[in-house]
Amino acid sequence: MLGSAPAQAQAQQTVKIGLILPMTGPFAGAIGRQIEAAAKLYIAQNGASVAGKTIELIVKDDTGTPDVTRRIAQELLVNDKVSFLAGFGLTPLAFAVAPLATQSKTPQIVMAAGTSSITEQSPFIVRTSFTLPQVTIGIADWASKNGIKKAMTLVADYGPGLDAEKSFKERLTAAGGEITGEIRIPLRNPDFSPFLQRVTDAKPDALFVFVPSGLGVQFMKQFVERGLDKSGIRLIATGDVTDDESLDSMGDVTLGLVTTHHYSAAHPSPENKAFVEAFRKAANVRPNFMAVGGWDGMHLIYEALKKTNGDTDGTKLVEAMKGMSWISPRGPISIDPKTRDIIQNVYVRKVEKVNGELYNVEFSTFEAVPDPVKAAK
Ligand code: DHB
Repeated sequence: MLGSAPAQAQAQQTVKIGLILPMTGPFAGAIGRQIEAAAKLYIAQNGASVAGKTIELIVKDDTGTPDVTRRIAQELLVNDKVSFLAGFGLTPLAFAVAPLATQSKTPQIVMAAGTSSITEQSPFIVRTSFTLPQVTIGIADWASKNGIKKAMTLVADYGPGLDAEKSFKERLTAAGGEITGEIRIPLRNPDFSPFLQRVTDAKPDALFVFVPSGLGVQFMKQFVERGLDKSGIRLIATGDVTDDESLDSMGDVTLGLVTTHHYSAAHPSPENKAFVEAFRKAANVRPNFMAVGGWDGMHLIYEALKKTNGDTDGTKLVEAMKGMSWISPRGPISIDPKTRDIIQNVYVRKVEKVNGELYNVEFSTFEAVPDPVKAAK
């Protein structure tokens, strides 16, 4: 029908999702583009319509800074009238938006950042990424069981790094181990070299490292330049260091490196095989754990809307998300109804060559791990 007014009146209402990501700067490749590609892939595969509503994704560049992130969130709420705020590639960016989520009663879906306390900043925060304590206790346990008594820690000096440092120390010392040095390096423009000299001189059994996604390449480069790969000091880390986005470019020096994390592109499940194949086709790169956090964040949004029959009341949506469980490309996951944080498997992995490419190959599993910091409260 030409120019039909009734057809317009019947047009579906639109539900907007504001996806705020670092699309420029040092975290664009490992975080921003990965999450954006995953969110778009989710919509392409599941349709841009759910519970009678049309889904519209609005992607904004936060430039990795809290002030810009807060301003963008405000604009998305006031001008675009989004029903969801999502993304949050770094902890300070998630913190910056939490008060706005509370005031506006808008679900804030944390798809990336990993500091434990983030979910405590607003009752409207729900997380689909991970927490550093959740993935760190596993590598501390592995270290104790594998003869590592004296360890040093090296972490990025902000929320997730401090969480990783504390969890590793508590867990290793509880098992009779000892921390012989704690090094914190700045998040911005880090130079690891002078700190690595300290490690060489101290000669611990192992060096435990956390740096955020995207910084692992530079760390490994300087680790090799300083000769630590030949020092007999064992390198162990969270999987942030051997991020799938850049692992293959780090080279054979990573072979045998043991890490713990919640996602590997090599996770052997049919769901993951399908995800990796579709993601590679769409984005021309391997998905990393950030992509999976974005994918699952979209799933959470879609399923919550189904449960509320398309009602976008923020309180109802968060209630719908509590206790939800599904099979992610990473394995089975759920949203803890008490904390709104994610419960998931944590895998112990070793870097190996598979079909000529470096991968984190999983060899043992801690099942259904909650955030241990909140579980202990
Ligand atoms: C955070 C960011 C990362 O890129 C990562 O790998 C882990 C944690 C964060 O800022 O919380």
